[in-house]
Amino acid sequence: MRHLIDPMDLSVEEIDHLIELAGKIIDHPEKYREVCRYKKLATLFFEPSTRTRLSFEAAMMELGGNVLGFSSADSSSAAKGESVADTARAVACYADIIAMRHPKEGAPLVASQYVDIPIINAGDGGHNHPTQTLTDLLTIKQEKGRLDHLTIGFCGDLKFGRTVHSLIKALSRYEGINYILISPEELQIPEYLKKEVFEKKGITYQEVERMEEVMPELDIIYMTRVQRERFFNEADYIRLKDSYILDMDKLKNAKEDLAILHPLPRVNEISVKVDDDPRACYFKQVNYGKYIRMALIMTMLGVKADED
Ligand code: NCD
Repeated sequence: MRHLIDPMDLSVEEIDHLIELAGKIIDHPEKYREVCRYKKLATLFFEPSTRTRLSFEAAMMELGGNVLGFSSADSSSAAKGESVADTARAVACYADIIAMRHPKEGAPLVASQYVDIPIINAGDGGHNHPTQTLTDLLTIKQEKGRLDHLTIGFCGDLKFGRTVHSLIKALSRYEGINYILISPEELQIPEYLKKEVFEKKGITYQEVERMEEVMPELDIIYMTRVQRERFFNEADYIRLKDSYILDMDKLKNAKEDLAILHPLPRVNEISVKVDDDPRACYFKQVNYGKYIRMALIMTMLGVKADED
C-alpha cells in the first residue's frame, strides 16, 4: 500500500508505466469499464477545485467504481474543528482510496500517517500537486513525443504555484531539460527548490522577466495564474496579477510546434484568441488529466484489466 504525496514518490519507471497505461485506456476505454467495480474513491476537498476533483470522480466512474466526498471545508466536520487526521481516519472506514486537497502544506502527508488506504495529494497549499504533474507529463509526452531534451518556459506565479513546483521536481530526472523561469522578481521560485533541485543536481536555469525575449527558444510554455488566495495582501496581488498576458502578438516569434500548457483555471494570462491556435494544448491537457488519474487509481488499488 502506497500514498502519493510528492511527485518524487514515483520513480521514472513508475511514471512511464502510468503514461503507458493511460495511453492504453485512451485507445480502449471499454476494456477498463468494470475494473474498479465495488471500489470507492473519496474526494476530500478543503479548497476550491473544478478539474482536479471532477476528473478524479469521472476517472473512478469510468472505471466502474463509486465516489463520495465533499467539495469544501464548510460542508465537512472541519467546520466544527475536526483535525485532518480524524477526518481521514473516519473516511478510511468508508472508502478504498482518498484524494485530498487542503490549503495547508503537508496536510495530506499528515492524513497518510493515520490511515491504511492510499492517499493521493490533490494539492496542498503552495507546495505540491503530483497528479497535475502526471497530467502535464502525459500532455508533454503526447504532444512532443518525449520527456527529455526540451526547452520549457515556466511563466507567471512561480512562487506560489504548486503545479510549477511539482513539475520542476519531476522533470529534474529527465535529461537535457532547459528551464527558463519567467516571472516578476517577487514571484520567483522558492529558494528551497533552487537549492534542493537545481543546485543539488547541478541543473542550470535561466531567470528572466520578459517572455518576449525567450519566446523563440521555447518548445513548451507553461503559463500559470497568479495565486490570489496565497497572497498576504490584496494590493500586491493587484499589482502583479496582469504581469503576463499571452496573446497572438507575443506568439509571433514562437516556434510553429510550441505547446502552450496551463493547469487552469485561467484568469487573464492567456487571451481567449489563443484558444483556437493549434499550439494551445490546455483543454487537451484537461482531457489527459482524467486518463492519467484512471491509470493512477488502478495502479494504487492494484487492479488490472484482463489483458494488461
Ligand atoms: C491548479 C491548482 O489547483 O494548483 N489547478 C489545477 O489543479 N488544475 C492551478 C491553479 O489553481 O492555478
